[in-house]
Amino acid sequence: MERLIIKGGNHLQGEIDCSGAKNAGLPILASTILLDGSALIGNLPHLQDITTKLELLNSMGSQINFHEDGYIAINSSNILLPEARYELVKTMRASILVMGPLVAKYGKAKISQPGGCDIGTRPIDFHLSGLEKMGAEIKSDSKYIYLKAKKLNPIDFSFPKVSVTGTENLMMAATLIEGTTTLRNCAKEPEVLELANYLNNCGAKISGAGESEIIVQGVKKLEASRWNVLFDRIEAGTYLVAGAITNGHVKVNKINPETINIVSEKLMNMGVEVNIGSDFVEVDATSSDLKAQDIFTEPFPGFPTDMQAQFMTLNTIASGTCMIEETVFENRFQHVSQLRKMGADITLNKNKASVSGVSNLVGANVRASDLRASASLVLAGLVGKNKTEINDIYHIDRGYECIEEKLNKLGAEIIREPVVY
Ligand code: UD1
Repeated sequence: MERLIIKGGNHLQGEIDCSGAKNAGLPILASTILLDGSALIGNLPHLQDITTKLELLNSMGSQINFHEDGYIAINSSNILLPEARYELVKTMRASILVMGPLVAKYGKAKISQPGGCDIGTRPIDFHLSGLEKMGAEIKSDSKYIYLKAKKLNPIDFSFPKVSVTGTENLMMAATLIEGTTTLRNCAKEPEVLELANYLNNCGAKISGAGESEIIVQGVKKLEASRWNVLFDRIEAGTYLVAGAITNGHVKVNKINPETINIVSEKLMNMGVEVNIGSDFVEVDATSSDLKAQDIFTEPFPGFPTDMQAQFMTLNTIASGTCMIEETVFENRFQHVSQLRKMGADITLNKNKASVSGVSNLVGANVRASDLRASASLVLAGLVGKNKTEINDIYHIDRGYECIEEKLNKLGAEIIREPVVY
């Protein structure tokens, strides 16, 4: 076990490069199950979740080779054991992304029940009802879901609620189903579009990805290809907030600014100067007086739930009061109790939080409860008086590549140390 110790109060200055997006890399890795031959995937971030996904593929029989130039070769053409074990699914729900590809390519899958998690119940009923409609026979017990299909059929399916991995799972399955599948009320997240672009590069016929209606014309086979994973808009947004909260001046390079338009707009509305280039976003908050801004989370292109916790921290020291409403997940306010320990003035009422700005936060001993909550605590530590100690940081390592290295490069003082009991 490790913890982060942050000495707060430094104004961050400088520029950093954004890493590849975990949420784009994970479905692309799962999609290799659909492919013939060896895929060559680059710009994958060095994150625990990516390692877990590679372990999962490897446990099923994929051959994985790390190249010196940073690319990873993955050959999932000969899956021997189409099974996602509990030990791997429990640490990463996105393991369920192998379900659609396994049933489409091998006609069977055994997937551990993902269960709930800290941010909500997170059922997978849309994934299952879509696959069932495609013709998969589904059985389950308390531990596993078993799927079996002789032949899948194309479907016309409307998601009851927008689901990112749900869209990805059904879209992947449909690529190898003869005929035309229409998916409606799909997630429009850039990572869904990225997956479709990769699969099309391998010979799939997917149109409409990035919009609400996706049409997939099934093909007989897909050939593995080389691809560089898109950059991480949530990581970029988090570092921009780090610049803003410390009255700093930070430039995040290697991103597609369009994917974080709403984050840039919010920062501007809070009084931060934002400069948007073709592949960078820069914030200058050196002379900003932060003003509270309401936040309402929604599927893309709305404000991302994955940035809610970070903007809550930013609002804790902005002047005025704002309302933060979480509409995507039912229990995504675990950071509130920890931010309160640091002096934040937050009142919770179900999925709404009222945040009144205080003049400063004070360092405390806090615990990370989930990935984005842990990022919000790092941000609080950057601005909190004295020292902040963040425990259970394995959450943060699931989604942020070398977070303390990147922030220290900008002038933060963060050390990582083992926890000795
Ligand atoms: C993905 C992202 C996660 C992000 C989330 C919302 C990945 C690997 N993870 O998670 O970082 O926070 O999108 O942007 O890409 N739902 C159901 N039934 C289903 C599926 C979803 O009721 O079968 C509900 C969920 O409980 C939630 C909502 O739909 O309330 C959206 O969830 P979803 O988009 O599926 O989240 P993930 O794909 O798990």
